Amino acid sequence: MNSFRVIVTALCCVVVVFGGLPFSSNAQLDPYFYGKTCPKLHSIAFKVLRKVAKTDPRMPASIIRLHFHDCFVQGCDASVLLNNTATIVSEQDAFPNINSLRGLDVINQIKTKVEKACPNRVSCADILTLASGISSVLTGGPGWEVPLGRRDSLTANQSLANQNLPGPNFSLDRLKSAFAAQGLNTVDLVALSGAHTFGRARCLFILDRLYNFNNTGKPDPTLDTTYLQQLRNQCPQNGTGNNRVNFDPTTPDTLDKNFYNNLQGKKGLLQSDQELFSTPGADTISIVNSFANSQNVFFQNFINSMIKMGNIDVLTGKKGEIRKQCNFINKKSSELDLGIVASAESMEGDMVSSI
Ligand code: HEM
Ligand SMILES: *[C@@H]1O[C@H](CO)[C@@H](O)[C@H](O)[C@H]1NC(C)=O
Ligand SMILES: *[C@@H]1O[C@H](CO)[C@@H](O)[C@H](O)[C@H]1NC(C)=O
Ligand SMILES: *[C@@H]1O[C@H](CO)[C@@H](O)[C@H](O)[C@H]1NC(C)=O
Ligand SMILES: *[C@@H]1O[C@H](CO)[C@@H](O)[C@H](O)[C@H]1NC(C)=O
Ligand SMILES: *[C@@H]1O[C@H](CO)[C@@H](O)[C@H](O)[C@H]1NC(C)=O
Repeated sequence: MNSFRVIVTALCCVVVVFGGLPFSSNAQLDPYFYGKTCPKLHSIAFKVLRKVAKTDPRMPASIIRLHFHDCFVQGCDASVLLNNTATIVSEQDAFPNINSLRGLDVINQIKTKVEKACPNRVSCADILTLASGISSVLTGGPGWEVPLGRRDSLTANQSLANQNLPGPNFSLDRLKSAFAAQGLNTVDLVALSGAHTFGRARCLFILDRLYNFNNTGKPDPTLDTTYLQQLRNQCPQNGTGNNRVNFDPTTPDTLDKNFYNNLQGKKGLLQSDQELFSTPGADTISIVNSFANSQNVFFQNFINSMIKMGNIDVLTGKKGEIRKQCNFINKKSSELDLGIVASAESMEGDMVSSI
């Protein structure tokens, strides 16, 4: 009865949105998806994130990256949050993620509070997406109404994470194809790379640029020489590579257009960043220039591309599930012993009668 009502609601949303919006990729999602079922969702998430950001100003950046690493691997389905179990090979151990992902505990904090307020309603994939939108607002970036209604995957795919997530030494052509594989175009690539305006990267991703670029025995020629010296001080040649450097040397914890001004000044941190501006004749140069000239233009495009990224291969309707704990899929009743099944059923009974 209860789940029937949810399906009916989902169906009428699809009809309304199809009729009301000119694009279909967003069709199943709706910023007011939880308007009735979890009206406190936004304020719960906002309060947790605001508190965390006060003591850990890097966290909003980490959350936005977690969302990106979720969406590029079988869609925005919270697959990245799944831990290793007998049946799950965690994406968290893929090369781009290992020793690098942050924010899993923050998503769990939000989920715990949301489960108390509205049990079994809100997906982990939506919490991560909403938390990314809030993270933008908390760091001086734009705000937008985050489309919601995703469901959580029953699977993860570590090899797909290795395959789909771009690397810091990718050429512009490889960056473009990694994004095109997700239905994202060149403007999306440039706009979303703007997220490298905050957060940190470990030295190991730039050591070759600083000391021995492409086996030339010299630094990357597209790196400003003053900036090169600063980075060499922070990243010694024979160090562990685990020191961290700010993506943006001027406003390290703010979501602003500085990333693009940095590229113009040959101060992109990763090779893949600088490629957007320093690849001769590239169509990305004029896009970088337009974002560097106007924070408003950058923000508009950032919003548009974040929503587009958030729509990649989402699970809706009856697909997937609403996880109870974001790091694990829900147990199938066949896996539970009879005692647990009995208590789960009586819980469900309570839920239906209380609505
Ligand atoms: C274009 C291709 C991209 C490449 C090659 C790339 C690569 C990287 C690398 C190597 C790091 C440092 C990881 C570490 O030190 O452990 C990083 C950090 C980061 N990336 Fe990207 N990234 C890309 C696109 C994106 C996109 C699309 C977003 C979000 C929209 C994003 C957001 C971030 C953020 C915010 C950080 C800092 C995270 C923190 O401080 O915890 N990146 N990225
Ligand atoms: C899931 O794995 C992460 C490491 O990737 C760990 O920090 C976390 O404690 C695990 N969560 C649970 C609930 O076991
Ligand atoms: C993971 O993705 C790869 C590459 O697309 C695919 O071949 C494989 O079947 C997937 N594995 C799982 C467990 O879904
Ligand atoms: C990129 O980095 C990987 C891993 O460090 C390395 O194996 C590969 O040769 C590099 N590719 C280029 C084009 O520099
Ligand atoms: C690296 O060097 C090879 C030849 O040694 C060259 O073909 C390639 O373009 C260089 N890559 C970069 C990014 O400079
Ligand atoms: C780093 O190690 C290399 C090779 O082991 C050595 O030639 C070089 O002098 C060392 N550099 C520094 C700054 O210690």
